[in-house]
Amino acid sequence: MIQSFWNRLRLNLRALNLAVAGHWLRLEDVAESYDAIAETYDRNWLVHLQSTTDRLHELLAPSFPNANRILEPGCGSGYSTARLREQYPDAAITAVDISSVMLEKAKQRLANHGAGIEFRCDDMLDCLKRQPSNAFDLIFSGWAIGYSNPAAIVVESARTLASGGGLAVIVNRLNTIPAVFDLFRKAMRRFPDSLQKAVWPRFPKDQTEISRLLAKHRFTVDRIEEGAAAIRYPSENRLDWLLGTGVLAGFDAVLPLRKTGPVRDWFADELDKIETGWEHRYILFIALKRGMSCDSVKR
Ligand SMILES: C[S@@+](CC[C@H](N)C(=O)[O-])C[C@H]1O[C@@H](n2cnc3c(N)ncnc32)[C@H](O)[C@@H]1O
Repeated sequence: MIQSFWNRLRLNLRALNLAVAGHWLRLEDVAESYDAIAETYDRNWLVHLQSTTDRLHELLAPSFPNANRILEPGCGSGYSTARLREQYPDAAITAVDISSVMLEKAKQRLANHGAGIEFRCDDMLDCLKRQPSNAFDLIFSGWAIGYSNPAAIVVESARTLASGGGLAVIVNRLNTIPAVFDLFRKAMRRFPDSLQKAVWPRFPKDQTEISRLLAKHRFTVDRIEEGAAAIRYPSENRLDWLLGTGVLAGFDAVLPLRKTGPVRDWFADELDKIETGWEHRYILFIALKRGMSCDSVKR
C-alpha cells in the first residue's frame, strides 16, 4: 500500500519533470514506431481491424455516392485507400501518413490503381491546416486521428469540407484494449524512473464526447456507435507480436519496451499471463457538414 503510494508519487514527479523539461512524446516518435512496424502491420494488426473498417466503407456509400475530392488522414498501408479507390473510381484522393514506410506500403498496394491518388508524408493536422476552405467532399480516416488531436481534426474538417460533405471516422477509445493499457500504466507505476517521455493521451472517452464535438462544429451526425473488435493474440511471446502491431506506437518511446532490461522483461512476462479477452474499443461515426440535408447530398 505504502509502496504503491510512493511509486505513484515518484511517477507523477517524474512525469512532471519530463513535461517541464519539454520531453513530451512527439509526432516523430509515433512516426518512428510505425516506420519500424510497417512490415508486420498488415499481418499482425490489420486483420483484426478489417471487418470494422469494411463496415464503415459500406455505411459510407449510400450517404456519399458522389464524393469527388477525398482526404484520408493516417492512410497507413493503404487498405482503406484501396477501398476508397474502388468506391469512388473517379475521385481525387489525397492519402496522408506521417510514417514514410507505411506510406510506401500504401503506394505498393495501390501500384496498379494509383491514378488520381496523391500520397503525402505529413502530419495529418498540419496537412489539414494548409488546405483551403471547401477543399474536400469527404474526409475518411480509420484508426488514426487518436494519434493526433481529434478535437482539432474535427475543427479543421469542418473548415475544409464543402457544405454537405462527410466526415467518416473510426477512432480508438481512451479505454481501448484495457488488458494492454492497464498493464502499461502498471508498468509506469512500477518503474517510474524508466519513464522517458511525458504523454497526454487524446483518444476520445466515448461517443457522447464525439457527438458534442461534432454538434459544436457544424456537423450533423448521420451515424455514431461504439464497438469492440475482438483481438486474437498469440499464446506466448506476446510482446514481440504486440510490438509489431502498432498498438504501442509512441508508447514504446515512453517506456523502454524494445530494449533488453527489467521493464521489458516484466512487461513481457505479465503480458503472457493475461487470460482475459482483448477488446479493441472504438467509436465509429459518419457526420455531415451542415448546410445541406442528407437527402440533398444523396441526389
Ligand atoms: C492504426 S494505423 C491505421 C492505418 C490505416 N488507416 C488502417 O486502417 O489500416 C494508424 C496510422 O496513422 C498514422 N499516423 C499516426 N499519427 C499520425 C499523424 N499525426 N499524421 C498522419 N498520420 C499519422 C500512422 O503512421 C499509422 O500509419
